[in-house]
Parts: sequence; C-alpha cells; structure tokens
Amino acid sequence: MGMNDFIRGLRQRRTTDTGQISLVERACPAGFTLFHYTEIDSTNEAAKRLVEGGEAVPAVLWAEKQTSGRGRRGRVWDSPTGNLYCTVLEPLRGDMVEAGRRSYLFGLAISTAINSFLPVPNAQLKWPNDVLINGAKVSGVLLETAVCPVTGDRYLITGFGVNVAMAPEGVAYKTTTLAAHEAQTTVERLLGAILDQLCLLDQLYRFEGFAAIRAQWRAQAAGIGESVTVNLPNGTSLQGKFTDLDDMGALLLDCGDAHYTITAGDVFFGPVGSAPPVAAAE
Ligand code: BTN
Repeated sequence: MGMNDFIRGLRQRRTTDTGQISLVERACPAGFTLFHYTEIDSTNEAAKRLVEGGEAVPAVLWAEKQTSGRGRRGRVWDSPTGNLYCTVLEPLRGDMVEAGRRSYLFGLAISTAINSFLPVPNAQLKWPNDVLINGAKVSGVLLETAVCPVTGDRYLITGFGVNVAMAPEGVAYKTTTLAAHEAQTTVERLLGAILDQLCLLDQLYRFEGFAAIRAQWRAQAAGIGESVTVNLPNGTSLQGKFTDLDDMGALLLDCGDAHYTITAGDVFFGPVGSAPPVAAAE
C-alpha cells in the first residue's frame, strides 16, 4: 500500500487532498484512520488483511472502485466507479449478538443519510439492513468478523455499498440508484453524512441502549405488520406476518400456528409466491 492510499490522523491533510476527501476525513469518528483507495479488491478484504496482519486500527476504508466486491452469502457486489464502497473496522466489544445489534446502526445511518439528500425522503430499511427506495434496493451491508492472530482480539468489519450512480442489472431483485431519485449529493458528501449519522447513533446506543436504535429502525422499516416470505440460510422458507424486531434485532414472524424468531435470512414482501426461489434469492 502506497502513501497515496493512506490518510493517517484525522487532521493531517495531504497536499493532494481535494476538498471532497477532506470532507470525509472530517466526518471520520474520532480516533479512526481513513484509508482511501482509488481501486482495491474489496474494502472488507482490506480490513481483514489489516487484522490478520496484526495491523488493525479503528479505521474507515473507502474505495472509489472494487474489483472483487462481495455481497451477503458470497454473492458478487458490482463495484464500478461512481458508487460508494466503504468498510468500518472497529474492535468487537461483546459477542455476536452485540455485532448484530451494531449492524442496525449502519443500516439506520445509511437510510437516514440517504433520506437527507432525497427530494422525497422515502428510503426505507429492509430487515436486517438493506435500504430500499420504492421497494428497490439501493444499499446493502455486509457484516464480518476477524481475529488478530497476535493478540487474539476480535474485530468487527462492517462493509456497505450504496448505488449512487449505477445499479446492477440481471439480479434477482429490483435495484435502483440515488441518481434515479434525483438525490442532490456526491459519493463524498454521502459518505460524510453516513459517518456523521454513525457517530450520532453510536452515542445514542451507548447512552440509551439498543431500544433507542430499534425505535428509530422501526420508524423507517418496510413491511412491519405485513405478510412476508423469509428465505432461510438452510434452504427452507417461511411465510407469515412480520410483527416486530426483538431486543437483539431478530425478526419476529407470526405464522398463525407458530411464532418464529429469525436471526438470519432474506425477506421478500408481497403476496405468497412472490419471493424468488431460495437459491436465487437476494
Ligand atoms: C449485500 O449483499 O447487500 C451487502 C453488500 C455489501 C457491499 C459492500 S461494498 C464495501 C464492502 N466491500 C465489499 O466487498 N463488500 C462491502
């Protein structure tokens, strides 16, 4: 990695910095290092390499383009120049339930930031942390963990992508872009706004706990109280009413004769039978 790809220290400016990069730099949470790449395989992979190489620091890794962007469940995440690709690397304090709870901060931060740029602020969250505009996906979050081989410390690697200018075609779900909804923003301004929101939500979480995050999440959620299909990781699917989130962030599904608490899966809205087959599901 060359110095061109690395900004260490929140107030240290490189002479080549554009005002736009400084904007992202200023929005980085205190104590986080900003890594900026014009091109990289995947910001999540870069974060993992830092951890596995014993060089982890709290960091924001931002790439203008990814050559091997990854989505959830091993899917490809198309990553041409023009969209936002970012990963936040932070120590994992707590267990995997805590990791899951933190992922809601990200979905919420992204959705709130997107709404601040939309003429009609109708971005919504799809469980667990996709962002939709008019039912089409504009953003997704990939949550991973890694362990430092030197210290044994665990890290949370939260990657997110936002379709600012381009959306993938030929995928099994509807996609859209911010540009298609006349969002008045740039990739840099959007990332700055997301990082600002993350800082605010982090404070809220620390002081008021997950209940406060859950309340905000619910206020922006799509499909609560509606019929949904959930494709589960084991290849089966369930249909029922999406009643709520529990205090760990699990989806509560009322299937009439049975109630389920779902911690992983893909949700589809609409009438029974409208979800794609499990293998092709988003
Ligand atoms: C999803 O499938 O919805 C999650 C998509 C996550 C994509 C982001 S882009 C930045 C980071 N790097 C990756 O390779 N993936 C995540």
